[in-house]
Amino acid sequence: MTDEPKIIARENGPLVIKGVSSLTGEDGQSLETKPVVALCRCGLSKSKPFCDGSHKEADLQSSGKPEGPDRIFRYEGAEVTVTFNPRLCSHAAECGRIASNIFNPKQKPWVQPDSGTVEEVKAVVAACPSGALQIAEGEDLHSLQPAGRAQVMVQRNGPYWVTGCTIETDAGAKGVLRDKFVLCRCGMSGNKPYCDGTHRSQRWRSK
Ligand code: SF4
Ligand code: FES
Repeated sequence: MTDEPKIIARENGPLVIKGVSSLTGEDGQSLETKPVVALCRCGLSKSKPFCDGSHKEADLQSSGKPEGPDRIFRYEGAEVTVTFNPRLCSHAAECGRIASNIFNPKQKPWVQPDSGTVEEVKAVVAACPSGALQIAEGEDLHSLQPAGRAQVMVQRNGPYWVTGCTIETDAGAKGVLRDKFVLCRCGMSGNKPYCDGTHRSQRWRSK
């Protein structure tokens, strides 16, 4: 067993997870895991979520110029400051569903912390699965994710939600925390290894 749970995004290959004790499937069922497991990220494995080597035939290209800026935007309110890195956002839109008064792409700026309560802002940051939204305290960023065990949760027809791991990748994103991030498994994200919501717009199906 490795000591530090981590995920290695292999170039043009699978996501190798090491030391992750909990892996749950699309239906929330617990999947058997080993100290080292390779997960599919080309979207074509016949043994999903596990890698069966299909990425070679599919010629998966995991590198390249990611779309969207790798930049931390700051939205300052009177009592709370929110940060956002678009490179990490999986566009699941929990933020707008929970508090569209504060997080709304139709308004400028799209995050307005003073349009709601501090509790509302914090509830949204805590619910953001990708860690794209964080709370800034000086130079420190917080995802408000309770310290949890290393976990990978396979989303139905969607990405991997990860908590409690570090990630090794050539395409890092500023401000990414070990607390939580969302990784592409359909093979189509323009921001690999992170999910950018393309699985939804392309109506990707895992089966
Ligand atoms: S990942 Fe976070 S910031 Fe992106 S849409 Fe979802 S809740 Fe909003
Ligand atoms: S799983 Fe590939 S873009 Fe979301």
